[in-house]
Amino acid sequence: MDFDLSQTDALLSTTRAVRKRLDLEREVGDEVLLECLQLAVQAPTGSNRQGWRWMIVRDKDKKAALADMYRRAGGEYLASAAADAETGSQTGRVLDSANYLAQNLEKVPVFVIPLIIGRLDDVPEGTNLTGPAAALMGSIVPAMWSFQMALRSRGLGSCYTTLHLGLEQEAAELLGIPPHMSQAGLLPVAYTKGTDFKPAKRPPVEEITYLDTYKNPIR
Ligand SMILES: Cc1cc2nc3c(=O)[nH]c(=O)nc-3n(C[C@H](O)[C@H](O)[C@H](O)COP(=O)(O)O)c2cc1C
Repeated sequence: MDFDLSQTDALLSTTRAVRKRLDLEREVGDEVLLECLQLAVQAPTGSNRQGWRWMIVRDKDKKAALADMYRRAGGEYLASAAADAETGSQTGRVLDSANYLAQNLEKVPVFVIPLIIGRLDDVPEGTNLTGPAAALMGSIVPAMWSFQMALRSRGLGSCYTTLHLGLEQEAAELLGIPPHMSQAGLLPVAYTKGTDFKPAKRPPVEEITYLDTYKNPIR
């Protein structure tokens, strides 16, 4: 199969964190969500366990409760964000946008909470957490990102968020999520206002890529 690289590269390079351009007025149907999730579960999982599960939240009261948790858990970060936002720098703009999302979260039509079977709390004390964390989150994050790209290619958008996880247990109780499962984030989903997103400024990879030893930049 020959891919149209202009299309695939555009999708890969312009799937952005969308916050201020989420259309809070337009409904998002189940059909499009399920279509995107069906693509998302093509993503890899450790040992092919396929332990992903997806919680869709539409209920107004539950969205409001989750938005409240998001703001409570993210309080300190969001307060420092407000200060940085005033500087007008690139980071400042991101933080201004992050604050906008925090203040308007409950108005986003749908939340998707990606879940994965397993917990890091079960890991025996003293274990190096890098492996278990990579295996657990590495079995849901690729699917989350595929979901976000599938949304983008259909005129919708989202923003990968994790702030509410500071109150993960409270969210689990609200949504009836069993104790053997982990939440990986909260994806607010909406149609986007326009679709003309641009590639972000990133460093040349030659500056962050090494050959054979970390002492040896590739170029
Ligand atoms: C692990 C992770 C956690 C994130 N958590 C949040 C969050 O809680 N709230 C938020 O507004 N954005 C969050 N983001 C979005 C980042 O701020 C965003 O991806 C980054 O600024 C780069 O923007 P871009 O994705 O448009 O390139 C998170 C992103 C990642 C990968």
